[in-house]
Amino acid sequence: MRIARMHLNESPFEPSKHISSLLSKYVNTLNLYHVEELEEEFLKKLSSYTKLPREYIHIFPGSSEALITLIRFCRSRGLRLTSIWPSFHGFVEFANMEEANLDFIYLTPESFELDLAKLAVAGSYSRAIYLANPNNPTSNMLFQDVDTLELLLNRFGLVIVDEAYFEFSRYTVADRVSDYDNLIVVRTFSKAFSIAGARVGYTIANQELSEELSRYTALFSTSTASIASALGALEDVEYAMEVVRKVIELRDELKRDVEKLGLYSLDSRTNFLFIKTPILGRDLARNLGEKGIRVRAYSDDLIKNYLRVSVSSRENNLRFIEALKILLREHY
Ligand SMILES: Cc1ncc(COP(=O)(O)O)c(C=O)c1O
Repeated sequence: MRIARMHLNESPFEPSKHISSLLSKYVNTLNLYHVEELEEEFLKKLSSYTKLPREYIHIFPGSSEALITLIRFCRSRGLRLTSIWPSFHGFVEFANMEEANLDFIYLTPESFELDLAKLAVAGSYSRAIYLANPNNPTSNMLFQDVDTLELLLNRFGLVIVDEAYFEFSRYTVADRVSDYDNLIVVRTFSKAFSIAGARVGYTIANQELSEELSRYTALFSTSTASIASALGALEDVEYAMEVVRKVIELRDELKRDVEKLGLYSLDSRTNFLFIKTPILGRDLARNLGEKGIRVRAYSDDLIKNYLRVSVSSRENNLRFIEALKILLREHY
């Protein structure tokens, strides 16, 4: 059975062809721990892509690893961790792995928006707050205004903004890191740049914070092959932007098809949809899984009637819609 991978928010498009030439250029250097000239070139390119000085950027083997490092950093600084909820499940798992306590600030039910009054009350300089913007799994923006950002920065000791889906939302707070010493932005090459398997992510923070963070990471942890892949992807940024354009088109098509089935999904600024289901998402996900379509469902009470569905090829998206239509008719 062909498997439709609609559960991990991967890119449905293959990586840029340009990456293979970069990989072959550096393959003969793999006897070395690192290649300075490649790292320099990559940082230079990333600095011009982000429009920020290279001293603000730190490279990680995947943004997950950046988040794990940030959790360690907060623990050693005595900062208590807080996450918005529902949010990126990985962050909870990483906090558990690191045996770090994690508190939650809940989004408003159904609309999944930030509750500013709750944020203001929970804020404290001894706390770090994590939020993904746009949010995963809800797919919407949590904020797009300066006032909310300032509220966060003025109330919390550290504000970690995960912009994994920045290329889809086009909203960033990275340009504010030079104004604040308690803001860290986390990004990834796994989504818009279509190289999840290369494992490359990065943080953006002011120089001092960036340098401090680097003390919590092992030397040479991002491999030459990963950096060469990411450099290849950045050198062909037009390809990534074309991928983003196509994914957004497919996403909006999928949303219309979901609505034709009488179901509701939030307005997505990502490469996935968050769909409200008339029955338990887990049951639907299991049934879809039996038909070779993998999607994400949750046991958490707040979101147990939702599915998170990654935008895939048109063929897979239609397969999902057809299977969902039959399941809703047959079983529920
Ligand atoms: C919000 C968010 N942050 C981080 C990640 C992890 O990405 P990476 O592949 O860079 O580890 C994901 C992956 O789905 C995500 O949705």
